[in-house]
Amino acid sequence: MPFIDVTSTSAIAPGTAKAFVVGDREVAVFNVDGAFYAIENSCPHQGGPLAEGFIDGKVVTCPWHAWCFDVTSGTMTLGGFTHVESYDVQVAGSTISVSTEPRS
Ligand code: FES
Repeated sequence: MPFIDVTSTSAIAPGTAKAFVVGDREVAVFNVDGAFYAIENSCPHQGGPLAEGFIDGKVVTCPWHAWCFDVTSGTMTLGGFTHVESYDVQVAGSTISVSTEPRS
């Protein structure tokens, strides 16, 4: 499965996220205590930008209406009736790359 380089590790501080275009998708990459995780950037509720959400540990809260997701898996942390796609992340040296296909 191909990976696309998106940024350097220093560009995403711990506890923050940034959005990148990966192929034909927009993906939010999170730094959780130095480990990097990627989920789709569009909230399944109404498309809120998850990279701009409130981040507490491995949970991001959508900035629009506060649905919450585990950024390590894409699972919803309250309710669990939906999820966001998650993507494998590779770090080589200081370069972060993200899979072009979601995890199955
Ligand atoms: S768009 Fe994310 S909670 Fe509504």
